[in-house]
Amino acid sequence: MLESKQSNSRKLYIESYGCQMNFSDSEIVASILVNEGFNTTDKLEEADLVLVNTCSIRDKAEQTVRKRLEKYNAVKRINPKMKVGVLGCMAERLKEKFLDEEKIVDMVVGPDAYKDLPNLLKEIDAGRDAVNVVLSKDETYGDISPVRLGTNGINALVSITRGCDNMCTFCVVPFTRGRERSRDPQSILTEVKDLAEKGYKEITLLGQNVDSYLWYGGGLKKDFKSASKIEKATATSFANLLAMVAKSQPKMRIRFSTSNPQDMTEDVLHMVAKHQNICNYIHLPVQSGSSRILKEMNRQHTREEYIQLVDRIHEIIPNCGISQDMITGFPTETEEEHQETLSLMEHVKYYFGFMFKYSERPGTMAARKLVDDVPEAIKKRRLTEIVDAQRKHSAYRTNSYLGKTVEVLIEREAKKNQNDWSGRNPQSLVVVFPKEQYQLGDFVNVKIKNCTSATLIGEAVGYSDNQQ
Ligand code: 5AD
Ligand code: SF4
Repeated sequence: MLESKQSNSRKLYIESYGCQMNFSDSEIVASILVNEGFNTTDKLEEADLVLVNTCSIRDKAEQTVRKRLEKYNAVKRINPKMKVGVLGCMAERLKEKFLDEEKIVDMVVGPDAYKDLPNLLKEIDAGRDAVNVVLSKDETYGDISPVRLGTNGINALVSITRGCDNMCTFCVVPFTRGRERSRDPQSILTEVKDLAEKGYKEITLLGQNVDSYLWYGGGLKKDFKSASKIEKATATSFANLLAMVAKSQPKMRIRFSTSNPQDMTEDVLHMVAKHQNICNYIHLPVQSGSSRILKEMNRQHTREEYIQLVDRIHEIIPNCGISQDMITGFPTETEEEHQETLSLMEHVKYYFGFMFKYSERPGTMAARKLVDDVPEAIKKRRLTEIVDAQRKHSAYRTNSYLGKTVEVLIEREAKKNQNDWSGRNPQSLVVVFPKEQYQLGDFVNVKIKNCTSATLIGEAVGYSDNQQ
């Protein structure tokens, strides 16, 4: 894997917004550009090429990127040779607008077109605008070794699926990232081995919908039904993949994200329970606690089915941490339905969560079929209520660790105190404790003495069994 080349003379400044998938994609882009004569820089002013990997999930995310584009254009006035490119979801959504109407960027590249960057760069070098936003049936970038950006050398992202077929009515992802496809398991195993050899201690298998992973030789998930008998018989499911990765690197911590309830199967839960190195933690977005709203969202499961799944998770993996994504103020959501969200949260008592006000996205089914009719003030109040409930549940969870000893992988220095380390336990709770003789990347057992609603505070009692 090539991190940078001495002979490279041009400088790339790359910035990422949005989900982990975008951060992972930027590492693929950086890797492609190393071979085109670019090394990365963290100084915007000295860049020859500025790329921004963008997110369209909510209007606010797009506004943030627009502000950054204004900033790049201000720098461009001082350094007219600098070129600016937009990558990712906004590229897909706003290609004409950026290039033709607003003329604020030189290059627009969608999430499936990064391998075309060498050609697109030639275009902009010749003074022409360049664009490729074609979505692909089989691009998974399986053959590219990502350059790790902003890395601590301990945690790494490994992308395993791209796109999403679920068509939740609020979500722009199926339009910006295309249909779902999976990456060759062998290329995943090779990447994980390479990371282990470089000293990485934890990987997160990434996808919009990881449980839906299915490798049958390449191609879209939706075309699996017409695969040959032999392809079907030898296909690799997500549970199979988890087992392969866990067995191949028994000393590495394995995480995965995101799981969607409608695609999660029990064999995955059994795999998590069986392999000590797969973390007992599941990010399981629910979006709403009301079956009627879930139906309007096209989530393919009811409140009751979700609760059943959570109960099964707790049976199979007794100490599993579960976190949520929630949308409040979806069109037509009533006060009673909001109360159902609160009561579902009360039942699950999530470890933590990511909560959002509904933001209408142009082109989605919800935007076409429903009126964004919950007033902003009500959305805001409901959001405050679910955030408060979550804080209470997080505190309930962190308090339950008082007096217990947990395994922590040391990931960084604590923000508040340079004499403390910060890491996470398998359930993904942040743990801080005095550094003593321990080092970054160590697996340490920490006895929990205190906590806030978001953090466990303790003292190391020795290395864990996982320490090499
Ligand atoms: N409005 C608000 N939140 C949204 N999300 C996705 N689309 C929207 C939208 N239109 C949230 C969901 C998803 C997370 C990544 O972002 O909760 O799980
Ligand atoms: Fe969007 Fe739904 Fe796919 Fe998640 S599962 S990316 S919310 S369409």
